[in-house]
Amino acid sequence: MPAPAAPSSASPEPAELLGATQADPDRGDAFYTRFYADGGWRYGFLREWWWLRRNVVKRFGLVRGMNALEVACGAGFHTHVLNRMGFRCIGVDRNRAAIDWARRKHPRWTYHCADLADLLPDHAGTFDIVLARGCSHYHYDLSSAQALDTTRTLLRYLKPGGVFIMTIATDLSGRRPAGQIWNNTLDDYRRHFGSFGLRHDETWVRGMALCAIYAPV
Ligand SMILES: C[S@@+](CC[C@H](N)C(=O)[O-])C[C@H]1O[C@@H](n2cnc3c(N)ncnc32)[C@H](O)[C@@H]1O
Repeated sequence: MPAPAAPSSASPEPAELLGATQADPDRGDAFYTRFYADGGWRYGFLREWWWLRRNVVKRFGLVRGMNALEVACGAGFHTHVLNRMGFRCIGVDRNRAAIDWARRKHPRWTYHCADLADLLPDHAGTFDIVLARGCSHYHYDLSSAQALDTTRTLLRYLKPGGVFIMTIATDLSGRRPAGQIWNNTLDDYRRHFGSFGLRHDETWVRGMALCAIYAPV
């Protein structure tokens, strides 16, 4: 199956996935197994490099040499770009086809096949940066136990002073069509990331919500 070109730094859910819901993630995994067999989205290196530099590295004050965990990394492209930018980044995705592709295509970097719900025990408290880019959990009900548990789990990977960054495509319209991904508003993201009692920051840049939570020093 030909993979759709990524039109921007956003990684919109493929049309076939729009019937997958938060309550039915396995349907998504079956789709992704086919999707990633051919590498998934086609990203351009320079475009993603600049997007990450402007919207993630500069905005959130990241510094070369920091270590990073990219969760839901898909076929591993942004883990690759972050390593090329000078970060020490490992990628994790639950989809085996995605991780197989990432390891073949970017053999210099480390990729793990694991579900977000299963904390990688050796990695708790070890990262300056945790990045979730286009992670499906943030496309649905942000007040659900699953979304709150996901963020809580990911915060456990941070070192003191570390930052968790979530980026996701949304038009901020608040549309919540039954059985499809939601376009959460910035207030929805503020409520979610504000509920952990830590310093947080939410903004929106041309189709993407950019949110961060800072672990106390
Ligand atoms: C929209 S894709 C984004 C992939 C990549 N970050 C990108 O921007 O190209 C969502 C990814 O989340 C992964 N994912 C969904 N639920 C997950 C979970 N519970 N644990 C780990 N990965 C998950 C999927 O396998 C898929 O690769």
